Amino acid sequence: MTLNPKLAKLLNEQINNEMSSSYVYLAMSAWFEQTPYSGFAQWMFNQSREETMHALKFYQYVVDRDAAVVLQPIAKPKADFKSPIDVFEHSLKQEQKVTQQINDLFEVAEQVKDHASKNLLLWFLNEQMEEEKSVKDMLDRLKLAGNDPASLLVLDREAAQRKGATESQEADASH
Ligand SMILES: [Fe+2]
Ligand SMILES: [Fe+2]
Repeated sequence: MTLNPKLAKLLNEQINNEMSSSYVYLAMSAWFEQTPYSGFAQWMFNQSREETMHALKFYQYVVDRDAAVVLQPIAKPKADFKSPIDVFEHSLKQEQKVTQQINDLFEVAEQVKDHASKNLLLWFLNEQMEEEKSVKDMLDRLKLAGNDPASLLVLDREAAQRKGATESQEADASH
């Protein structure tokens, strides 16, 4: 089944959205590298890799559907932040934006009755739900920790350990 042109265009845009997201997280990781929070730097670095895997998953899908891949420039990401909370608030907004994009894509896939695309997008919708949740959980705990250095360091250490998702995802994306 030929990929509907409108859907093909949006899937191509999503390759760019995911790569942009990867860049946003890489900038966040770089910001944390300039602070004592090496665990948060690791979290954002892993997140950046995950977004690259998402971009590649969309890329591979467009290729597998025998449609043309059209790559676009990636915008310069925001580089200054006020605090760990500020970074995680931006991260949550970023994820909410991506959820909206995937939701819109799903709607188009539904309109053109492309069930294979719907299946791919469902995987992404579940992924978005998990990502929004993990960012929101960390944000809630950061708010609770406030300015207490000991609590912040506990959260930082925890953040460094959040690796499982990335690894299982990479295993997934290679299938
Ligand atoms: Fe993503
Ligand atoms: Fe994400």
